[in-house]
Amino acid sequence: MNKKLKIILWIIFLGLIVLASCSLRPLKFQQNNETEITEDIDSDLIIVGFSQLGSESDWRTANTKSIQNALVKENGFSLIFSNGRQSQENQIKDVRSFIFQEVDYIVIAPVTETGWDTVLMEAKQAGIPVIIVDRKIDTEDESLYVASVGTDKYAEGKKAGLWLEKYLKERENETNISRKKLAVSEKEGSPINIVVLEGTPDSTAQIGRSQGFEDIAVNHKNWNILAHENGDFTKAKGKEVMAKYLQEFKDIDVLVSQNDDMTFGAIEAIREAGLSCGVNGNIKIISFDAVSEAFDKMEAGLINADIECNPLQGQLIADIIGRLEKGEEAPRVSYVEGKVFEAENASRDRVGRSY
Ligand code: AHR
Repeated sequence: MNKKLKIILWIIFLGLIVLASCSLRPLKFQQNNETEITEDIDSDLIIVGFSQLGSESDWRTANTKSIQNALVKENGFSLIFSNGRQSQENQIKDVRSFIFQEVDYIVIAPVTETGWDTVLMEAKQAGIPVIIVDRKIDTEDESLYVASVGTDKYAEGKKAGLWLEKYLKERENETNISRKKLAVSEKEGSPINIVVLEGTPDSTAQIGRSQGFEDIAVNHKNWNILAHENGDFTKAKGKEVMAKYLQEFKDIDVLVSQNDDMTFGAIEAIREAGLSCGVNGNIKIISFDAVSEAFDKMEAGLINADIECNPLQGQLIADIIGRLEKGEEAPRVSYVEGKVFEAENASRDRVGRSY
């Protein structure tokens, strides 16, 4: 055998050894969208692939952290994190990659509700249980996932409507208050002009919050929803759409903004237009999420009320997997409860909040 051939055979031989020593499971575990860490495979750990839908909001950051903190080595987990960057296509690719890597569980926070059946059927055929988190999926085949964890977005929308109902009633009943505070109720009998900043179209948070609010609004003939447009759940888009609303409508009484980040953008737009908002302002604001910055803004009187959507869902997921591992049944739907916070009590109510 000549020397060249010997070297080639050696290279092939060494290559085969390297391949054999690698399992199909990944050696690289992404910790978040920015960094990657390398871990040795520990077959005692439960491998979970988590497809997060994006990083669009403060709420999302808190939700990601909650899941990353619960599914840690110390609790028996090894987490593969993937950021879908607001694209269902990316999320489907992530799920397929988890299937290829033979993870033990797949957790998905789905960006939109529809279009999941095919990839979830692939996971089912591979024998990998799927847990849906935060939002829901729309499917006729309930066997495609084992459990879902999140908040009741329809109830959140209703809470926003009920808060406005209560607020307007209280203002009607108040007689000894300043004209400034009466701004909205002075219009009793005349329209209450409402604009809505909606989140990602076809997402559970957009569908549920819109429907819940509309189901209360329908009982009030003088509530006039002037417009509802997509603000993408982001500050930038929220600001852009609010600026457009302010150009289009000269008499906005109430803004319903389906998340805090859009609200932060909208507040900037309102101020830049020379208007005021919140407790003593021209435009009353109802927001959703109740993250830390929203409490700052409630304390400053800029947001009237915030409907809580609790992002701390990691421990529930860990508990569900723990039960499934023991062969126990897991609850099909687990909701994390949320409150309604008001500007007046914001400094008291925020105590102990971690996000
Ligand atoms: O699905 C939950 C929503 O998504 C939160 O309200 C919002 O902030 C997030 O982006």
